[in-house]
Formats: sequence, C-alpha cells, structure tokens
Amino acid sequence: MKAVLLTNHGGSEMLSYGEAADPVAGAGEVVVDIHAASVNGADYKVRRGKGRYLLNKFPHILGRDFSGVVSALGAGVSDFKTGDAVFGVTDVGLEGAYAEKIAIKAAIVAKKPASLSHTQAAALGLISLTALTAIEDTAHLKAGQTILIQGGAGGVAGFAVQLAKHLGATVIATASAGNHPYVRGLGADRVIDYNAEDFFAIGPVCDVVFDTVGGDSVRAGCYKVLKPGGRLVWIAPAEGPARADVETLRPDVKRDRAHLERMLALLAAGAVKPPAITRYKLADAGEAHRVSEARHLQGKLVFDVR
Ligand SMILES: NC(=O)c1ccc[n+]([C@@H]2O[C@H](COP(=O)([O-])OP(=O)(O)OC[C@H]3O[C@@H](n4cnc5c(N)ncnc54)[C@H](OP(=O)(O)O)[C@@H]3O)[C@@H](O)[C@H]2O)c1
Repeated sequence: MKAVLLTNHGGSEMLSYGEAADPVAGAGEVVVDIHAASVNGADYKVRRGKGRYLLNKFPHILGRDFSGVVSALGAGVSDFKTGDAVFGVTDVGLEGAYAEKIAIKAAIVAKKPASLSHTQAAALGLISLTALTAIEDTAHLKAGQTILIQGGAGGVAGFAVQLAKHLGATVIATASAGNHPYVRGLGADRVIDYNAEDFFAIGPVCDVVFDTVGGDSVRAGCYKVLKPGGRLVWIAPAEGPARADVETLRPDVKRDRAHLERMLALLAAGAVKPPAITRYKLADAGEAHRVSEARHLQGKLVFDVR
C-alpha cells in the first residue's frame, strides 16, 4: 500500500510518500481501506520526537483519525462485514492512519452514517472524543455556567465551543481576528482577539476554562478568569504554578465507540456540525504538517487518501 513514512525524527522533510506492507487483521481486528485521514496537533509533535513523543523504530506511520471501508475481518469479529463504511481513532499509543489501509481493534470503530462524508468523519474523530471527554466527563459543564475556551478556531476547541453552547453555557472563546466570524458561527457568545486585548481582563467570571493552547502565559491568564472552586481543564501543557482554590484537570481521553456514537447523536440532532476542512493529497503530508505546526489553522486538515 501507499503510506506516508516518517523516516526519522525532525522537520517535515522527514515525511516521505512511499510503499509499506499491507496490514493484516489480527483476532478482534478489522482492516479498513482508508478514504480519508486527518492531521492532529500531536502528529507534528511525534514527528519532532521530543520527550514522551520519542519513537524507537522507523519508518513509522503517523496518523490517528481515519474513515474508510472494511476490507477484511479478523477472527471473532461479528459486528462488521466487509464493505461497511466505518471511522475511528487509533488506540492510545498506536498510529498508522497516513496510509491506504489500517488494521484496528473492531471494538473501537464506529459505523459511518451516509450523511457524513469520509472527509468529515476523519476530521471529527479525535477532536470530538477529546472535547466530549473534556467538557462533559471532566469539566461537567452545566447549563447557565460560563466557560472560556482557548483557541476557539482549532479542531478540539471548535467542537468544544459547539458542545458547550448546546449544553446551555455562556461561551467565551479566544481567537485571532481573522477567525472571529468562524468562531462566532460555531456559537460563541463572545470572541476575544488575544492579539489585541488581554483575555484575562474579563475577570474571574468563569466556572470552567478549557485550555487547548497551553504555555505559561496563557495558563496564568486562564487561572485569572476562574471563579473560586472553578475547573481548569487542559490538553496543551504549561509549567507555571497552579491556582490552589480551583481544580486543574487533564481529561483521560479514551478511544471508544461509545463517545464516537455520542458525537454522531449530537450531529444527527443538529447540535454540532463538522469543522471547517482544508484538504490535502496524502503525498503532500509535509505541507499539511507545516500548516498544522504554525498553529493558526481553522478547523481541520484532512488527507484525501483514495
Ligand atoms: N488527548 C489529548 O490530550 C489531546 C487531544 C487532541 C489534541 N491535543 C492537543 O491540544 C492542542 C490543540 O489541538 P488542536 O488539534 O485542537 O489544535 P489546532 O487545531 O492545531 O489549533 C490551533 C488553534 O489555536 C489557535 N491559537 C494559536 N495560538 C493561540 C493563542 N495564543 N491564543 C488562542 N488561540 C490560539 C489558532 O487559532 P488563531 O489563528 O485564531 O490563533 C488555531 O486555530 C494541541 O497541543 C494538541 O496536541 C491533546
């Protein structure tokens, strides 16, 4: 099969489009012929290889989100048949979606509704699992509460803005000026241009802050806008001191079918919609990484695989 091979840690030039062995379905697995795969913020971090992202084996195939069609069943798989359209996210610690095929545990894959394109399904996997786990399971955001979401135009944050609005919260988001129409269109009540004003000037009005941007200065500002007893949920790291009178929580994002189906139910109800999508050919993975790494994209970057 064709795949994008990470030949060593380093810059985007370490990604090369070439040949890899076709995967085989083990017991409990399906092989999916991938139609679309998406880029996540973690991908360039794995490519760079710092800290916990260090790999010990190359070539490595990146990529966590995929959508495609089941082409083979491993022993014991009864919930799918070949030809089923499915989508999903690789299990924690596993990757391999920048490719024409992937073998994956059937139990964590979901059926793709016909109303969702492969491109949209590949865009929605990890961002929805992360936002649902952060906002519903970790922050326990309730109607009437106020939430600040950092980086509202991004993949995870954009889903979180819609979810928080659907749950009945007042939603404040940060974004650069060019992304304000997009973030307002997702339902944010207020969008702050973090380049033009200090977002923390809103004062301690928030029950929850969701930090998808990270870094010490952003995190220090996040603590300033929380009410005493509030909750800071983060997915991008910072090292500064935490605030003692609020909870600081990191969501434990599982790759499971139940959360994918919860996302599908929200979509079907019209509570959320797919993100803005920029499409690339799989052979242009290096260019997609340069855009992702610059960290000012809107929504998601998705590869057309076949
Ligand atoms: N399980 C997990 O823990 C998990 C899962 C998924 C993602 N993540 C991590 O979460 C982070 C976000 O991922 P993602 O894929 O959602 O992000 P992304 O799509 O790469 O989004 C980056 C967004 O951040 C905005 N931004 C950049 N600097 C900003 C600043 N100073 N203030 C406010 N917004 C800023 C950019 O918009 P503007 O142009 O408007 O600035 C851009 O839309 C990444 O670090 C990723 O690795 C963790």
